[in-house]
Amino acid sequence: MKKTILTGDRPSGRLHLGHYIGSLQNRLKLQNQFDQYVMIADVQALTDNFEHPEKITENVYEVAKDYLAIGLDPEITTIFIQSQVPEIAELTMYFLNLVTIARLERNPTVKSEIQQKGYESAIPAGFFCYPVSQAADIAIFQAELVPVGEDQLPMIELTNEIVRRFNRIYHTSCLKECQAYLSHASRLVGLDGKSKASKSLNNTIFLADSPQEIKQKVFQMFTDPDHLKVSDPGKVEGNAVFAYLDAFHPDKEAVAELKAHYQRGGLGDVTIKNLLNETLQNLLGPIRERRETLNNSDIQEMLYQGTKKAQKRAQTTLNEARNAIGLNYFKD
Ligand code: TRP
Repeated sequence: MKKTILTGDRPSGRLHLGHYIGSLQNRLKLQNQFDQYVMIADVQALTDNFEHPEKITENVYEVAKDYLAIGLDPEITTIFIQSQVPEIAELTMYFLNLVTIARLERNPTVKSEIQQKGYESAIPAGFFCYPVSQAADIAIFQAELVPVGEDQLPMIELTNEIVRRFNRIYHTSCLKECQAYLSHASRLVGLDGKSKASKSLNNTIFLADSPQEIKQKVFQMFTDPDHLKVSDPGKVEGNAVFAYLDAFHPDKEAVAELKAHYQRGGLGDVTIKNLLNETLQNLLGPIRERRETLNNSDIQEMLYQGTKKAQKRAQTTLNEARNAIGLNYFKD
């Protein structure tokens, strides 16, 4: 039997090149080797967007389209919507008993999110507890591998602590421990050269961007502010155009030669931007074309079937978990 993989994205916007290099490419590969579940994490996305639910609900179909456009195959990858599998929420309730507030406070990812969002004085309990709900996401599918970025490692550790406690306290082995499957790609910088490509910083290229948008964004990218004349030697470190060429140009040797040339002097920003534009148009053109063939009723049907399948699997584990606790009053 193939091992199960579970990953997910919060549908707070369309997917972008940072997602592509960090996780989507991996999922394309993994769908052929494992039993892959991909969750559109609308419940989790609500934990910091509960006042604007439309921001989340409007993007569920967009994210689903991005998945199909890059080549996830719903025949082999089960794509589903978190809120439509309420079994996850029930398991979360049982999990909440198995973790202390102090333990949740120690989560470095949540800590920095609390700071970023200015929640220090009043942390919504739902937000504070989302790692527990994420543990339930993983455990209910008995996922053994979880492809994530490094920022999610504290969630994996917490998941395994909860799973071990559950199995020990309720004398069961119905929940499985999991492992992170880290992507080798380093995190993609923003178009502005800043730390991270993200929708909220408005410094990223979306998979669905038009050819004109891609070109315009590439030509606004941060390079080396001291590289004024073509003949000047230029800096490659911190130069976003080279970071993107490293990530997306298929010919690594050609990129290495260009870097050397740029550092010697004599290679202009317009030339490297033209090359990057061409590289990204080649990558995103077919993705955009496939996206345009997808209509909403097909997406709805795909999500419905995926969610039904995911729910069946979740029900099986939840039943075992309830039985282990003894919550089976009406059995037979
Ligand atoms: N926390 C993840 C993110 O912000 C999304 C997510 C929710 C997830 N549940 C998950 C990832 C379970 C992996 C496994 O991108």
